[in-house]
Amino acid sequence: MVTTVTGGETSAILIRAGRGLEWKVLMVVDSRISGFYKLTREQRARKLAELAGLSDDEIGALANPGRVDMEILDHMIENVVGAMTLPIGIATNFLVDGKDYLIPMAIEEPSVVAAASNAARMARDLGGFTATDTGPLMIAQVQAVGVPTPFAAKQQVLKARDEILSLANAQDPVLVRFGGGAKDLRVRVIDSHIGPMLITELIVDVRDAMGANAVNTMAEAVAPLVERLTGGKVLLRILSNLADLRIVRATATFDKELLGGDEIVDGIIAAWAFAEADPYRCATHNKGIMNGVDAVVIATGNDFRAIEAGAHSYAAVGGYSSLTKYEKRKDGHIIGTIEIPMAVGLVGGATKIHPTARTCVRILGVKTALELGHVIASVGLAQNLAALRALVAEGIQKGHMALHARNVAATAGAKGELIDVIADRLVKEKNVRVERAKEILAELKRD
Ligand code: MEV
Repeated sequence: MVTTVTGGETSAILIRAGRGLEWKVLMVVDSRISGFYKLTREQRARKLAELAGLSDDEIGALANPGRVDMEILDHMIENVVGAMTLPIGIATNFLVDGKDYLIPMAIEEPSVVAAASNAARMARDLGGFTATDTGPLMIAQVQAVGVPTPFAAKQQVLKARDEILSLANAQDPVLVRFGGGAKDLRVRVIDSHIGPMLITELIVDVRDAMGANAVNTMAEAVAPLVERLTGGKVLLRILSNLADLRIVRATATFDKELLGGDEIVDGIIAAWAFAEADPYRCATHNKGIMNGVDAVVIATGNDFRAIEAGAHSYAAVGGYSSLTKYEKRKDGHIIGTIEIPMAVGLVGGATKIHPTARTCVRILGVKTALELGHVIASVGLAQNLAALRALVAEGIQKGHMALHARNVAATAGAKGELIDVIADRLVKEKNVRVERAKEILAELKRD
């Protein structure tokens, strides 16, 4: 049975399988939740629970991280003594491939969630984001050293392609059953400080997994065969984080009026050109992209170090450059694109085990790792556009200061509504310091 629930201007389509009592969210119909930021934290959680069809346990895992079972965390890594909690904010307004998403972002930095939501709003009426991908292909490397005749050995390995691939696939019949597995092989002779090396690379379709475990197991399994074929010694057997066969490309057009007019549009293009021309600027430019990308990657329990390594190494291929491109259309709107490796998964790892990550995946409502990748790349593009707009317009500090002031007010001991009242005063006085916040708090309490 399918039904639609509506809360304010936003609604979601729910489905109930059989006679069960549990409703599952098919899709959020509209991710524009106006005034979301004005609600209290509890009201926001309730609204989200309603829109994403979250159970009490799921909303508990999100809203009350202290309730997450330490037993689960204890088994994730070694020598566990505690947990580090990050705030999760919901980015709104995202329309990706024609579908609305509420996007959980785990990040400590103020302004990021608001900025992403704002940029998504500017793209929304012009179609939102559309994305494509190259499929979930990971690369595993097998390094052979001391190979007597490397070029002849390369031929030997290529000749044994089918045998190597079937040995790799025998390691993961489940992956193969789902249509994945080792699909191809490539072999390179590279020069190094210790002479030539023969690098055999397995190309593996990892389906909905991040894939590190699957491809590392395969690389280890084929190593003895590679040694026999090459007469060398195999050392490393490990995936490459330069996941350039697992690329997502997203694009969106941003409304010039909403951006602030022609001058801002030209400024954004100039800011992007600066990044393309100068690695010092480009590092910061790409960091701004990763603010958005990492926040969703972390919220969904994925490996943000892998994503960071992939993004920056991909940006460095052919000279360090921007992961985004911007062009001004004839009608004055900006069209932006992003191209980024996206080794994220939905099955296995923290994404499956950690209750908060699981809840975040439910909020997103993504069904495949590729769909998740489309959303993450879109957030990266939105984040970058928002940063460039702020930098060429009012500057980045204004937005930062407003949120920083709230932190300062809370640090000074303010609670509830007093936080906003004091933060406003601090910003107006251009004096965002804890000491001043304490003075204002004392004053307000006296009155
Ligand atoms: C801050 O976390 C990110 C920015 O520095 C990105 C940029 O400069 O493009 C604002």
